[in-house]
Amino acid sequence: MAKRGISILKDIEANTVINLLNRAYCDEWLAYYQYFIEAKVIKGLMKDAAISELNLHATDELRHATLISNRIIQLGGTPILHPGDFLKHSNCGYDAPENPDVSSILNQAIKGEQCAISTYSNLLEILRDKDIVTYDIVSQILADEVEHEEDLQSLFDDLKEFMEQFKL
Ligand SMILES: [Fe+2]
Ligand SMILES: [Fe+2]
Repeated sequence: MAKRGISILKDIEANTVINLLNRAYCDEWLAYYQYFIEAKVIKGLMKDAAISELNLHATDELRHATLISNRIIQLGGTPILHPGDFLKHSNCGYDAPENPDVSSILNQAIKGEQCAISTYSNLLEILRDKDIVTYDIVSQILADEVEHEEDLQSLFDDLKEFMEQFKL
């Protein structure tokens, strides 16, 4: 545990940050799996464009889980050890892609990103002026989630336009 590194926290306990990060850690693993499995089961128009976007997002969410777990360890904590606890501790839960249609999957994914954006902006409010290092990591993650929402939304809009043009 890095004592000087922890001593720079102001008006916030390392344990509080660890608990908040562990919740985000669960979200990232669930988001990773959701994208992973969506890319496998998805069907319909513009499926190929959607698959490459979903796979790209899956890679990003796993990278976020890595960033978060590294910070938890730096603060002297332990990342959630059992995947069975992911749902219990997550902020955004998990939306199984039971309808494999492209538009349904894109909609689910957009909702997930919107939840991630709200969660991370709340987290930044808590961390502001208290834990600069975690603040910086969470800001980077938030910027990715904002980009994710935009990518999915523009794909969804293209799909809608295409369907309207051809009256599908
Ligand atoms: Fe993420
Ligand atoms: Fe995301």
